[in-house]
Formats: sequence, C-alpha cells, structure tokens
Amino acid sequence: MALSRTPPSPGGTGWFPVARSADVGTAPVAVGAGDRPWVVVRLRPGGEVTALSPRCPHRLAPLTDGTVVDGLLQCSRHGWRFTADGRCRDIPALGPDAAPPPRADLSAPWAVEERDGWVWIAPDRTLHHRPPRAAAATTAEPVPELPAPAGPVVGNLEPALAHAWHPVALADQLDDGGWLAVRLLGRTWTVERREGRLDAGPAAWGVREHLGVVWLAPDRPVGEEVEVPSAPGIRSRWLSPVRTSAPAAVVVDAFLDPARGGRVPSVPAVTTGRGGFTARWTDADAAVSVQLGAPLQLVRREDLPDGSVRWAVLLVQPEDADATRIHLGAFVQGAAAPASRAALAAEVDRLGAELADVVTDRRWTGTAGLPLTLREEVHVATDAPGVALRRVLADFLVAARRAEGSTTVQDTTVRTTEEDTDVAAA
Ligand code: FES
Repeated sequence: MALSRTPPSPGGTGWFPVARSADVGTAPVAVGAGDRPWVVVRLRPGGEVTALSPRCPHRLAPLTDGTVVDGLLQCSRHGWRFTADGRCRDIPALGPDAAPPPRADLSAPWAVEERDGWVWIAPDRTLHHRPPRAAAATTAEPVPELPAPAGPVVGNLEPALAHAWHPVALADQLDDGGWLAVRLLGRTWTVERREGRLDAGPAAWGVREHLGVVWLAPDRPVGEEVEVPSAPGIRSRWLSPVRTSAPAAVVVDAFLDPARGGRVPSVPAVTTGRGGFTARWTDADAAVSVQLGAPLQLVRREDLPDGSVRWAVLLVQPEDADATRIHLGAFVQGAAAPASRAALAAEVDRLGAELADVVTDRRWTGTAGLPLTLREEVHVATDAPGVALRRVLADFLVAARRAEGSTTVQDTTVRTTEEDTDVAAA
C-alpha cells in the first residue's frame, strides 16, 4: 500500500482535522490538509461533507466563491458544476447536451470523514481507515495559500508592458497650462499641457492625445492599436474612469468572454492578424465581434436586430500591481437616423452596469495576472477569444523583450504553443 506523501498528521495517521463539523454547511469553506488547500462543503443541507480541490479548473477561480445548486457545487464565474467526487457535470456555455472534457474535473482527497464533531481529510491513501479520536487539543490545520500558476502570468508590473501606448487620462481632464500626476506600471508620471503640447516627466518614449484620451508610451511601442468607430450619426461618450484591483489583462479577458454572465453564445470564430485578433459570435439576437490590439486594447461591436450598432471601447491603465484604471467608451449608431441622445444615455447606463460587475465583483480580483500557459486552465470552444488573447500576449512579450535587445530571454519562456487538447477538440 502506498505511503502518505503528506507532512506528519496527528499520530502519523494520514488524517488531518480541517474544520469543526458545525462550521461546514452548504457554503464552501477553505481548509488545509497535508499542506494542501481544499474546499469542504455539504452538497445537501445536513448531508455528508464533500472535499474538493479549491480552484475551478476553467479560469482558476476560487471555489469558496461557489454555491450549491441542485446537489452540485457551482463555480461563481461561468457556472460549471461539480459532483461530490469532483466530476464536472455541466458547462452551461456549451449547452445541455455537451460532455465536459475530463480535464474539467476537480481532484478529491483519498477520504473525508466526520468524527467527534470534526471534519477530517486524508489527502492520500493511508493505512488508517478511520480518523483518530479528537482530543481537547485538536485544532484545525492551517489553510495554505492557493498556489499561483506555475507558468508566466501577465500582471500589471510586467516590464514588457512598457512597450505599448497606455491611456492615462481623459483629454478633457487636462486643460491647457494644467498638469496631472498619473500612475502607470508602478511609476508616477507628470503629464502637462502647454500651448497645446503634451509633455511627460520623467521622460517617456511618447505622450499624445488621441480619441479624446491622453496616452503615454514609456518605451518604443511594439503593439498594435485598434480603430474606434467614426462615421456621421455615431454618438459617443467616455464613461468616468473607474479603478479595480483586478489586473489589466484579467479585465480584458473578462470583457471579451462570450460566456460571461451565464450567456450561451455560438462558438466564436477567431481570426488572428498582426498583433491582435478578431473574434465573432452571436449572443441572443446580436452579432458580436471583438477586435483586440496587442497588448490590451479592445473594441467590442454588437449589431442588433433592429439595425442599430453599439460599440464598447475598453482601454486599461495598469497602474500598480493591485490597481487598474478602466477607461470605457460607449459608441452608438441608429438603424437609419443618427443615434439619439437617449440611445447613447441608455448605452452608457448598460456599459456602466457591466463595468460595475468587473469592478465590484471579487470573482475578477485576487489574482496576480493572466496565466499564459494554456495547460494551466481548461478551455472549451466558447473560450476561443480568451485563448487568442493569451497567445497574442505571449507573442507581445516576446516582441517587447526583443525590442529591449535582450539576449538572455528565450522565446520559450512565454510561449504557449503547448498543445491544449481541449482547445484542439473545440
Ligand atoms: S466556471 Fe469556474 S472559472 Fe469559469
């Protein structure tokens, strides 16, 4: 029989006390056993305790944010549902008849049991088929941090991001003769406007005004820029910028996600080009397309059944490791006549609500960055835009490091070409 790989447990039994039974209900609880994190939960009120690995394999969301629905543990982000033994039963974005891929399953410990008012976990097979008796001195094991992704992630302090134009303010925030102190990539710049000319200190590769936004490029840009809609009859407005603790790349990944909010989109078609990609799908009656310019500029277009069109222009400003400022522009075009003020106001409200979802919902926060190694997450067919984003960012990092003339960085440090069977099958 295999011996336990875990650190010493009480009496060397392989069993670890993780929580008092009374503290475990139908809300998932983070616990630790054998130096590994788990979630424990009752999938029915008063039912037996289930223990599972603590992260959703899809986008690595913590399952402590999940809920119990119909006897299954449901992830908070896209609603994937898991059985008591960790099997992924449902992926809503794929429809009711789709079979989740095997990699979508969670892992489970060898055993979980209750005894003497405690929940015990044996992470690995042990010779002791029952947990030991609890004693007065029994305490719950410490809860380890959730492990960070093993491969590269794009966080807000990624040095390569210096090789891109970033939004730092709306143009109307900077009057002639005025100045602003802005944060970007963990540094402070002062941007001032004198006699129509913009300057930045300390010196940057460039500072400019474009599309009603002030932009700053710390070093020579190697990314691509998206085009924003401009035609007679289009009305537009920038929403007031807001700040989130989610990394900039995670914000972009959230906005281009066709399945966000429980939607069931068609399978996106992705076309990659130089420094970006375009993805198209249908969502309810709308034809949706997103255009991404490396590293992090995004335009989403929705063609509605009545002939009107609306665009969301998402620009993200990676200020600090835990701070991203989001600049979101609303653009609307009427079916036959110029868009009305009321139509623009309605769209601003709609995008504002969408923005609030990302800013206030901690499902999108608490992560150091966007993982680039495809095998670290599980991607299904509707994730094609997210997969394209990861590939574009990996290529951008390589281009930026080449621009710095680095001879020490191998392209393989950020490459995501490892084949992902789920993507290939999608
Ligand atoms: S369903 Fe869990 S992160 Fe998407």
